[in-house]
Amino acid sequence: AKKTTIARLAELRASRIPISVLTAYDFPTARACSAHPVDITLVGDSLAQVCLGYSSTTRLTLGEMLHHCRAVARGTITPFLVADMPFGTCAAGPRDAVLAAVRMVQEGQVEAVKLEGGEEIVPHINALTQMGIPVMAHIGLLPQRHTSLSGYRVQGRTAESARSLVRTARALQDAGAFSIVLEAIPSPLGAYITEQVDIPTIGIGAGPGTSGQVLVWDDMVGTWGGHKAKSVFSSSLYYTPYDTILGLSVISVTSGKKWLVVWPRT
Ligand code: KIV
Ligand code: NA
Repeated sequence: AKKTTIARLAELRASRIPISVLTAYDFPTARACSAHPVDITLVGDSLAQVCLGYSSTTRLTLGEMLHHCRAVARGTITPFLVADMPFGTCAAGPRDAVLAAVRMVQEGQVEAVKLEGGEEIVPHINALTQMGIPVMAHIGLLPQRHTSLSGYRVQGRTAESARSLVRTARALQDAGAFSIVLEAIPSPLGAYITEQVDIPTIGIGAGPGTSGQVLVWDDMVGTWGGHKAKSVFSSSLYYTPYDTILGLSVISVTSGKKWLVVWPRT
């Protein structure tokens, strides 16, 4: 397999070949991602919960994230390597976002960063992409804001909030994002946003109509037994830890490719 690039991800989207994204937090899982048809390895800040035992991703520091990114980078061969900007690293503005992201690239050895947020982070995405740091956007449910959102809830359920997410997706694309994660939104909205943007959408609980799917490693293998986790794992069927709101995730093999699909259960 060849090294995944941003151009390759655009090609996959254009040819409607599903993009597979899996999280990794250490060297062995990074190796496993490289050994399978995973297009993007994501050092998600879900690291905080599934790997470090924190109650929320907001507890994770930049230093902790860098330590895990380096381990994942050492085990990554073919997948494109993306990592979450930890909570707070962009809070003080685009300048701080750039300084933290440079550390993610230099010390963490990742290729791109992922940022949760809406139109308020357009200046940050502009600054990062102009300096040559690729950005993956992340909208819908934003776990770093679970306190202000009063929990982990499906987003975009009303017509107004759905329209706002579509606008946001376009704005983040225009700011320079190379891809966008859609978390916990109704399936039709996941498909609609995917049609409305020109960059690959990566869903988690956003239905099967996105350009790709992302799963948390520990959910996939069923080791995560924490908050909301059912982690029912039977043959190739399993639930994400969000199964109550997100639906049933299935790994199937489409044209020889491992493909992660989330089907809404309602
Ligand atoms: O932290 C994470 O693992 C993520 C993905 C689930 C999108 O942000
Ligand atoms: Na995350």
